[in-house]
Parts: sequence; structure tokens; C-alpha cells
Amino acid sequence: MNSGTVIGDVEVSRHGDVAVLTLRREAKLNALSTHMESRLLDAVRSVNDSRAVVITGGDRVFSAGADTSELREMTPEAIAEYYRGSGAVYEAVAALPQPTIAAIAGYCLGGGFELALAADLRVADETAVFGLPEVGIGILPSSGGVTRLVRAVGPARTRDLVLRCRRMSVTEAHSWGLVTETTPAGSHLSTALEIAAELATQPPLAVSVAKQVITAATDASRETALLLEQLAYATLNRIG
Ligand code: COA
Repeated sequence: MNSGTVIGDVEVSRHGDVAVLTLRREAKLNALSTHMESRLLDAVRSVNDSRAVVITGGDRVFSAGADTSELREMTPEAIAEYYRGSGAVYEAVAALPQPTIAAIAGYCLGGGFELALAADLRVADETAVFGLPEVGIGILPSSGGVTRLVRAVGPARTRDLVLRCRRMSVTEAHSWGLVTETTPAGSHLSTALEIAAELATQPPLAVSVAKQVITAATDASRETALLLEQLAYATLNRIG
């Protein structure tokens, strides 16, 4: 892997066609301050020329979530402004045309879990711990976490996680389909890079269109989803 460019608390490095975005605020367990979210947004916007993207927090922790030192009462206007600004990073990750993989070790909580859920795939080592503690401090996951979880695991399991604020092991997260692949401790990044390199060899337009159709099919009616599949096929077949 080449040595990375550091954008604030986020390092951007390359591994062939794969871009790796590393959260580098370990002393604070990679807590997602608005500053860090902004830098991550810059980093996400800087990886256009890659064919797959891996997001990681390093060897010890993925992220302990939103920076609790910044949580305070905000006006509705300030909150709307936040979602238009640094808070847009979660949707920016989800909207990347390339396949994305979160490589997770240790705590993956709150906004950290929501960031991981915004990726296409999650590779986690045996130390990973997932959870959404927000309700316990009087708020709720609001960076797409509830929306994505309901679609991924259904409302009953989402209630179990969100309302009880309970933690989940990597084994349980894997059994729910939230983790794509589990690895021994310390192998999450190398495994994620292997999968990313494999994805990077696929035709990029087909990967990107298939990714968008899968996302759209989650919410569309059956008829609309089928039509989308067929139109996407016709487009790819014509170009290919
Ligand atoms: N925001 C800001 N700082 C955080 C943080 C967060 N979400 N999570 C951890 N940190 C900081 C701690 O304040 C501490 O900083 P310090 O050394 O300057 O005091 C450092 O990271 C290490 O955390 P610490 O709590 O000492 O580690 P731990 O191993 O004992 O506990 C956690 C780990 C994850 C259980 C605990 O830090 C925690 O519960 N964090 C908050 C998680 C949360 O509620 N996230 C969602 C917010 S909406």
C-alpha cells in the first residue's frame, strides 16, 4: 500500500485500484466529530479514480460514533444545516459508484455503525462489537442507520437493537447478514483488500449500475424494480 495523503483525521491511500480511507483519531476511538466527518466527506470526494473503496478505523477500533462532546441542543435550522454539511458524508459513501467495504475491528458504535452500514459490504474481525447507544442518551440513530437497518434486517430486529441499545458480537452480526465476512483478529483489512481487489477487476459500469439497481429495488415496487433491471440490462448490453 502506498503511503497515504492525510486529510485532517482521515488518511487516503492506494492499494492498486483500491482506495483506502482510514479514520485516524484512535485516542478518541475515532469518534466522528463534525471536523472528522467533513474530512471524510472530502476524502470520499477524492477517490473518483478508484475502482473500489475500503473504509477502516485501523487495528483497534472502527469508530465509537458521534463525538459526544459536540452533542448539544441545536436549533432545527442548525440541524438541517448539519445534514447538508458534514452530516451528508453517510449518504455520500452510500452514493459512491464504486463498491465499498467497511473493514471493522473493535467498537463499531452509533455513527460508526451507521457509516459501516452505508458501505456495500462489511468485513469484521472477531474483536468487532456493534451497537447503537443513541436512544440511551435520549436521541436516535439519524445518519441513515434506522432506515438501512430496517431494510437489512426488518423492523423487529431493528427495534431489538435500537430500543434496547444492546451490543452485538461479530458472530451475531454475521448471523443477521450485517457482516459479510468475519476474520481472525487483525485480518479484517487484509481480507477487505482482497475482496476489494477482486471487485476492482469486474467491469466498473456493470458493478456500478448493478449496485444502483440493488439499492433502488429495496424500495421500489416489484414492477418498478423489474423494469429497472430490464432497462439497466438493455443499457449495459448496448454499451458492452
Ligand atoms: N465521542 C467523544 N469521545 C469519545 C467517544 C465519543 N463517542 N467515545 C470514546 N471517546 C473518548 C473518551 O472520552 C476517551 O477520551 P480521553 O482518553 O481523552 O478521556 C477515549 O475516547 C477513550 O474512551 P474510553 O471511554 O476511555 O474507552 P473505554 O474502552 O473505557 O470505553 C466505549 C469505550 C466505546 C464503551 C466508551 O468510550 C463509550 O461508551 N463511548 C461513547 C459511545 C457512544 O455513546 N457513541 C454514540 C454517541 S451518539
